[in-house]
Amino acid sequence: MGTRKIAVLPGDGIGPEVVRQAVKVLEAIGEKFQHHFSFQEYVIGGAALKESGEPLPAQTLDGALHSDAVLLGAVGSPEFDKNPPHLKPEKALLQLREQLKAFANLRPVALYESLADASPLKREIILGTDILIVRELTGGLYFGEPRGVQTNKNGIQTGFNTMRYSTEEIERIAHIAFRAAQGRGKILHSADKANVLETSQLWRKTVASLATQYPDVHLEHIYVDNCAMQLIAAPRQFDVILTENMFGDILSDEAAMLTGSIGMLPSASIGGAVGLYEPIHGSAPDLTGKNVANPLATIASAAMMLRHSFHMAEEASAIENAIRKALDQGYRTADIYRGVGALAGTEEMGDWVATSL
Ligand code: IPM
Ligand code: MG
Repeated sequence: MGTRKIAVLPGDGIGPEVVRQAVKVLEAIGEKFQHHFSFQEYVIGGAALKESGEPLPAQTLDGALHSDAVLLGAVGSPEFDKNPPHLKPEKALLQLREQLKAFANLRPVALYESLADASPLKREIILGTDILIVRELTGGLYFGEPRGVQTNKNGIQTGFNTMRYSTEEIERIAHIAFRAAQGRGKILHSADKANVLETSQLWRKTVASLATQYPDVHLEHIYVDNCAMQLIAAPRQFDVILTENMFGDILSDEAAMLTGSIGMLPSASIGGAVGLYEPIHGSAPDLTGKNVANPLATIASAAMMLRHSFHMAEEASAIENAIRKALDQGYRTADIYRGVGALAGTEEMGDWVATSL
């Protein structure tokens, strides 16, 4: 199939450290399965602001658009906290998602059994957790216009954002969620706030109208606040959760704790010609440069890249099995270390996965 061009966007904070491990694992996969991956690195976020004054330089966007897949670390750095919105590192990620037309964000939340004791939640509650959160990624409050901060004549400021979704946007993400459910446990929870928001009422109606096309999937509508509670109380009831952008952002961080650490959760952002793969965690400035960050979310994101962008299911499973093996053998980064097993740094964890392939 020739060379697969991967645009590598390490970004800020722990981004470069964790991305390096994922690249290492992809290189090992290339060797083992005789694939050729090429890696082109581009700056994004705070790193790009420092270099060029822009969070998403044209070169980076171009590189991403002309690649076969994008691997991203994290963006965000406290030194740019006071920047105006269009000059914040996070802006780059939102623009990239938009430009790649990556409207579907898949966030699998699966517990590795050997990590059951790393979660703050009780073992008997989380055992068997295997959820896929399907988060809409290019609409809702994150992108809705109008938005801004206005000042009235008395000097009082008002900030405002707009949550809006068209039926077209709802349908295309719902189809992805229904299809995902068909390939899994055949249960779909659509989380909304239809008791209050018009956007959610349209969301609910639109999702419900597609259900007849998927008679094998059991569809349930659930209010997002109740969903947040149920995730902690009884996570096994969930298979696929479909939700809008902001709700999905919040629910996925919450759900991450079911697996022990946010450092475990990968994601795939798909829908456009080029897929974007990134861990769901942020740049973690406090952990940066200490070789303590957990690279497993990024390594697992690389596995998602193989599966979704390159249709290399066997290779993807090989990575996931290697992660499981490293965990079963007791290797733990600090975030999932509970006094037993071997405490591993970022590099060592990457090495353990690469050698377990
Ligand atoms: C995520 C992150 C991003 C988001 C930030 C960094 C813009 O929290 O991917 O979940 O809110 O989508
Ligand atoms: Mg988030």
